[in-house]
Amino acid sequence: MNFADLHCHILGGVDDGARDEKEMREMLDVAYDDGIHTICFTPHFKQYEFSSVAEIASYNKNISESFNKAKEYAQEKYPDMKLFLGSEIMYHHDISNSLLSSFCKGIAGGSFVLVEFDPGISFFDMRLAISNLLRNGMHPIIAHAERYGIFIKNPKRLQELKELGASVQVNAHGIKKIAIGKIARFLKNALKQSLVDIVATDSHRPDSSPPQISRAYEIIKKLCGADYAENVCCKNAEKILNNEN
Ligand SMILES: [Fe+2]
Repeated sequence: MNFADLHCHILGGVDDGARDEKEMREMLDVAYDDGIHTICFTPHFKQYEFSSVAEIASYNKNISESFNKAKEYAQEKYPDMKLFLGSEIMYHHDISNSLLSSFCKGIAGGSFVLVEFDPGISFFDMRLAISNLLRNGMHPIIAHAERYGIFIKNPKRLQELKELGASVQVNAHGIKKIAIGKIARFLKNALKQSLVDIVATDSHRPDSSPPQISRAYEIIKKLCGADYAENVCCKNAEKILNNEN
């Protein structure tokens, strides 16, 4: 199985993910060993953290240099590995302008944007944000949906946002065999009701937060069947990378 990871912090020395090139290489090794042969790196983009355009340009230069190092390493060691660049964008009302200014990127430079929100956001504000992104020609992917109280309380709200045109991503490490608690229950229900479009790693470290999907894939396969497991762990991500609806 060739898994695809659309949400990870593997680029070295860029954000709160891999701290340097060595750790980035270790994470690429872990990902490849797990069967992840397609990766879209999504370093954080929180526009409020920058005080000038020059600071954003410097951040992006760092990302670009790290991306080149990752590609060099992969070409040498894993020639069949496909690497892309995107961003995990903290929502603000003018994302379309940030994309136009090349401050941040959609997935593989396309119209799908991985967006995170304040965990305490109201459903009203989330729906408004999703509508705003869609109106501006973007296809929002809600990052780690299990992190928002509004969905934990009422998973059906995801359906409403999906009907508007949003896609839903959850983190692989939350999907565990004997998991208990509210988040585990939410993930199980959301998967059973086919509310999830993408399972990704959101990995930050080679050991404590590793880029691995295979275990989640096996659990989803048992819970929801092989077709759905393949869709959320591989095929949907490939479609997004090709900018297909
Ligand atoms: Fe993330």
